[in-house]
Amino acid sequence: MSNITIHDFLKKKKEGKKITMLTAYDYPFARIVDEAGIDAVLVGDSLGMVVQGLENTLPVTMDEMIYHTKMVTRAVKNAMVIGDMPFMSYQASIEEALKNAGRFLKEGGASAVKMEGGAEIAGHIRAMTKSDIPVMAHIGLTPQSIHRMGGYKVQGKTEEAAMKLIEEAHIVEDAGAFSLLLEAIPMGLGKIISEELSIPAIGIGAGPHCDGQILVLHDVIGLFERFVPKFVKQYANVKEDALKAIKTFKEEIERGAFPSDEQSFR
Ligand code: KIV
Repeated sequence: MSNITIHDFLKKKKEGKKITMLTAYDYPFARIVDEAGIDAVLVGDSLGMVVQGLENTLPVTMDEMIYHTKMVTRAVKNAMVIGDMPFMSYQASIEEALKNAGRFLKEGGASAVKMEGGAEIAGHIRAMTKSDIPVMAHIGLTPQSIHRMGGYKVQGKTEEAAMKLIEEAHIVEDAGAFSLLLEAIPMGLGKIISEELSIPAIGIGAGPHCDGQILVLHDVIGLFERFVPKFVKQYANVKEDALKAIKTFKEEIERGAFPSDEQSFR
């Protein structure tokens, strides 16, 4: 059982303290993220791209999400673990959504789920909240909608689109979401939504005024090189460090420097 709960999220918002979040998909990285004191770990369907090497998140399945969520919850002692509902695990019906969300808590050991969508998932949020499954909603750029959106584009840029997102934010709050993820929207809009809602708004490319921030772990530590979105800040280059280590290992084997006496038995 993790220590940080949805109540801590709300408390942090009330106290004006920033909420920190990162994604993680496996045991070793989830341990590191938790040890760093991050408030919540999202087992994001972004694992399709950064772990599985897929083109987008659409093919990720519920079974794969549960497999990764189990690894993460096994590692995490303090952070809240949130499971990300993959494409077509909730769109077809509220009943299916409820069953799949329940799997994250029952099988995966997560404390909450995240779902992409606004007004169209209000009924899903209401049903899950009624069944004691806390929901984080996700509006703005929703990667499961890339075909409708025509790619990974900043959302809410016109006045009409911005007003629609503000309205959607209120709808998911009223439906019972405990927090809202805002992806790739202008910073001014991120500020308005964060100020208008009483639930915490967590931004990814939504500017500095959100109640908290999340990024994809592999972007933060330099382990995903296919593309780096503008909103990413890379704090390490793990790919470079790993490459250097592995090249040195190979070179030492080839010239007979590894294993030395120190790594050998007598
Ligand atoms: O799947 C994911 O990693 C996400 C990001 C917005 C954090 O949803």
